[in-house]
Amino acid sequence: MKLQKTDLRARIEETAGWIRERITAPPRVGLILGTGLGNLAGRAADPVAIPYSEIPNFAVSTVQSHAGNLLFGSLKGKNLVVMEGRFHYYEGYSLEEITFPVRVMKALGVEVLVISNAAGGMNPEFKKGDLVALTDHINLMGVNPLIGPNDAKLGIRFPDMIEPYSKRLVELAARVAKDKGLSLKQGVYGGVTGPNLETRAEYRFMRLIGCDLVGMSTVPEVIVGVHAGLEILAVSIVTDSCLPDSLEPVNIEEVIRAAQEASPKLDALVEGFVEAL
Ligand code: HPA
Repeated sequence: MKLQKTDLRARIEETAGWIRERITAPPRVGLILGTGLGNLAGRAADPVAIPYSEIPNFAVSTVQSHAGNLLFGSLKGKNLVVMEGRFHYYEGYSLEEITFPVRVMKALGVEVLVISNAAGGMNPEFKKGDLVALTDHINLMGVNPLIGPNDAKLGIRFPDMIEPYSKRLVELAARVAKDKGLSLKQGVYGGVTGPNLETRAEYRFMRLIGCDLVGMSTVPEVIVGVHAGLEILAVSIVTDSCLPDSLEPVNIEEVIRAAQEASPKLDALVEGFVEAL
């Protein structure tokens, strides 16, 4: 695993080269669509969908609610690449496998990365179905995708994290939301590994240290995106309420349903955002 790291750049180039032969225009915007949020890709013009299983060096998505395609196309005249379904740490993938697509997006020419996810709401002002733009995160996964030898051609050894989520992009998203009559809240995302949900004591702890949301994705991709120099917007859909004193049992079907119900709002926001870029 550590040895593989040294040829990471060669694998990125191999994969990007393979993809370039199958697409007509380089993508400028990358989208990673989370749990229950796979609909947006359907709006892309001239779509070319490539199953992850065909892409050299890609892992294969195992989550039922995810399609498992890399889709190229254009939305509002902007060329984009969409990950329909992402890889999670709890599935058993390494962080390198999870973040490899972000590296490939960068190699293909992506400058702006938009990430969506389903998250539990810990801020008492958040309701199920709310859209929340991330302003920051706390990495509670206990791991980091940049551990290991650093390839200076991919990014610096000690990337700073003063603005992992671009202020410019959060403001742009807020403007687009306002124009479309959508509510877009803002918050700090606590990234955990899962797969179990959190204990009441963990929710109390996470709230105390400053988290508004909790989820099992996004943080690894954002860390690698920052390392690679991408400008990032991430939006959560609140799928369940994580208030420790009024906690209800959660099941994954409900989480997926809540994400799917809110997904038209997210689609409209992201479409408007891509147009405004
Ligand atoms: N905890 C962790 N991840 C989640 C949750 C949650 O409550 N809801 C959706 N993803």
